[in-house]
Amino acid sequence: MSKLCIQGGIHLKGDVLISGAKNAAVAILPATILVNDVTVIENLPNINDVAILNEVIQSLGAVTEFLDSHTLKIDASTIYKCSAIEPEVGELRASYYLIGALLGRFKYAEVAMPGGCDFGGRPIDQHIKGFKALGAEVEIVDNIIRVHAKELVGTRIYLDVVSVGATINILLAAVLAQGTTVIENAAKEPHVVDVANFLNKMGAKITGAGTHLIRIKGVERLGGGRYSTVPDQIEAGTYMIAAAITGGDVCVRNIIPEHMESLSSKLREMGVQVLEGDDFLQVVAQRKITATNVKTLPYPGFPTDLQPQMAALLAVSEGVSTMVESVFDNRFQYIEELGNIGINIKVDGNKATIEGVNTLKGAKLSATDLRAGAAMVLVGLRALGETTIDNVRYIDRGYEEIEKKLTALGAKIYRIE
Ligand code: UD1
Repeated sequence: MSKLCIQGGIHLKGDVLISGAKNAAVAILPATILVNDVTVIENLPNINDVAILNEVIQSLGAVTEFLDSHTLKIDASTIYKCSAIEPEVGELRASYYLIGALLGRFKYAEVAMPGGCDFGGRPIDQHIKGFKALGAEVEIVDNIIRVHAKELVGTRIYLDVVSVGATINILLAAVLAQGTTVIENAAKEPHVVDVANFLNKMGAKITGAGTHLIRIKGVERLGGGRYSTVPDQIEAGTYMIAAAITGGDVCVRNIIPEHMESLSSKLREMGVQVLEGDDFLQVVAQRKITATNVKTLPYPGFPTDLQPQMAALLAVSEGVSTMVESVFDNRFQYIEELGNIGINIKVDGNKATIEGVNTLKGAKLSATDLRAGAAMVLVGLRALGETTIDNVRYIDRGYEEIEKKLTALGAKIYRIE
């Protein structure tokens, strides 16, 4: 098991190039199953979740080849199997997209129930509601979900909660269905738009992605082609916060600044300078950072996937801040672990009250999930002395070469295997 060791207290400085979005990649790869032809997906992040999904798609019978470390060629015309029940499938949250994609193309799927980071209950009832509305029968036995349909017929589906996963999964199931499907109260996240753009490029007829109402006119087949994944909003946000928490000056490149608006605004409120270019944001934190209040919301609100990283920054800001988590029931489990490094946070239900402290002292930490792991790296970069973080496998699920990118910014961080 590997560990990250950080000698903190260095102001980060320089440029960092952001990778393709994890949450787009883990949806677009299953979406290629819908294409009875060859697709080439570019700008994939080189992370574990992508590697696992590649293997899963291969195991279904697709022929895949990495043309380079960020480009995957997939021939899904050879898929002959609709079953993905191996234990590693269940470990991925995104395995739920295999259900929508296999159902959409083959009218049958058998998939291990999705896992992923533990933020309390993460039901998939809205996905199931959508599949059923399209005409599928669904059963869950022994942690395996089976869906099948004689035919899939478009309909109106209202999501009771704004769900990224359910929105994309219903999109996948509906693209080849007969007639028109309308998803109401859809999620608007950049990766929802990216999946719709990918499918449209392959011949789908989807309008309204990025709004609360998505319309999908079923087509008979999708053709092959090339597509490049959108930049990672959460990785970009993590490096922006890294610049702020270390009092640094970092240019975060290869991004879509508009996707970062909720974070950029909060950082400016806190006294951090955020300068905007066409495809970059420069974050300069020379003055004191002041406390603020943050509430996570579906896009375009403040992303829950930046909640732990932002909490880390609030923990060293001047004054008392609050962080309200309104997307997941239980996403503050990491707080106790952060207490080891000297941060002062009290949690009451879905609200954390954070009293800023000036100095953090290096400590031994253990990543509890992907984004909490990133928050631990951030406090380690700020703390004086050495911080070690184990359970790095969580961080590797979502951050490509984190120690290399941080080292290029001047951080002292290395990995022990
Ligand atoms: C996705 C992201 C995750 C991010 C989250 C919110 C992937 C692989 N993961 O997760 O990184 O934190 O969006 O932006 O893209 N819900 C239901 N029933 C459902 C589905 C969801 O009640 O059928 C609830 C969830 O419990 C949660 C809320 O809806 O409270 C939002 O969840 P959702 O957007 O679906 O998150 P995920 O797709 O799991």
